[in-house]
Amino acid sequence: MDTKTEDQVIQTQLTQGRSDWPDEPLKITTASIDAQIEDFFYEAYLRYFKTAESRRRWSIDHDIPWAEITDTASETTAIIVESFSAVEMFLPDYTHKITDLVRKSRGRALFQANWGYEESKHSMVLDMWLERSGKRTEDQIAEFERSLLGAEWKLPFESPRQMICYTMIQELATGVNYTNLRERAESEGDVCLARVLRWVAADESAHYNFFRKGVKAFMELDPEGTVKDIKWVFDHFTMPAHALIPEWDERGQVIEEAGVYGPKVYLGKVRRPVIEDLALTREQLRGTGLTDAEVQEIADKEDERQEALRLGQYKRFTTIATSPRYQHPQRTVISTIP
Ligand SMILES: [Fe+2]
Ligand SMILES: [Fe+2]
Repeated sequence: MDTKTEDQVIQTQLTQGRSDWPDEPLKITTASIDAQIEDFFYEAYLRYFKTAESRRRWSIDHDIPWAEITDTASETTAIIVESFSAVEMFLPDYTHKITDLVRKSRGRALFQANWGYEESKHSMVLDMWLERSGKRTEDQIAEFERSLLGAEWKLPFESPRQMICYTMIQELATGVNYTNLRERAESEGDVCLARVLRWVAADESAHYNFFRKGVKAFMELDPEGTVKDIKWVFDHFTMPAHALIPEWDERGQVIEEAGVYGPKVYLGKVRRPVIEDLALTREQLRGTGLTDAEVQEIADKEDERQEALRLGQYKRFTTIATSPRYQHPQRTVISTIP
């Protein structure tokens, strides 16, 4: 008989769902860059899928403690949940436009199909919580969804490589959003919402991890071009759909005042960790548009990491946990999410 508590089961699924996939240097061959990239993505997708199937799948019906639903969360929290659900609602645009762009890459196209399935659960489960907690009626949800229908998300970048830089940043930002909101739900004593957000954040974290590995593969094969794309994307980065959602300014303000997401969170918990994680050289860091002081600080940190690696004090793992509570104790971890 399995004696693990439910929390332990979730903890295992959340952490080991990713931690058996260490960062490994790309095996550079004599094949063309395109062929090597394709090989990388196909293999990365197979590994991603296998791990997702065996350890990260969750069920809306069975893995949320719906029996414990309450209305303890604040109206501010409900507004944020509703806003995040609205961002997830543009899934048809995200899936078909990104898949179209990466269609020639079997690995990336298959990933997008699986990504679409995982993302489709997010707005469903958020809406379900809104309704079951009594925060919104079915009619209110339907009315809000109708108000979104006229808008259409457009690809923010043109090339597949720029788009993977974008989705890498965006997925980490989304993961940070949900993790911060989960902490808020926990502090308000909303067990059900906290569980919803834990699963959703675990998915977002896995998405980020796939994309960051992809960007790293591009970095190894074409560092110069990839750094240019990273800079370009950071210079033009905005979260998806914000321009498309009615009254986003007010919603954005609520989200920022709640400490869930805003420019400060973006700079400290998204932009900076993403750049640090890419382990760029000083020269490359200068190319990303950072200030001299930031370049100095990040490069010094990376030098220290490399030295520790050389001395064998540091394992070559970067595990992005949804919360430090779920970090695997055996791993050396760079946590990008507080
Ligand atoms: Fe999502
Ligand atoms: Fe995602």
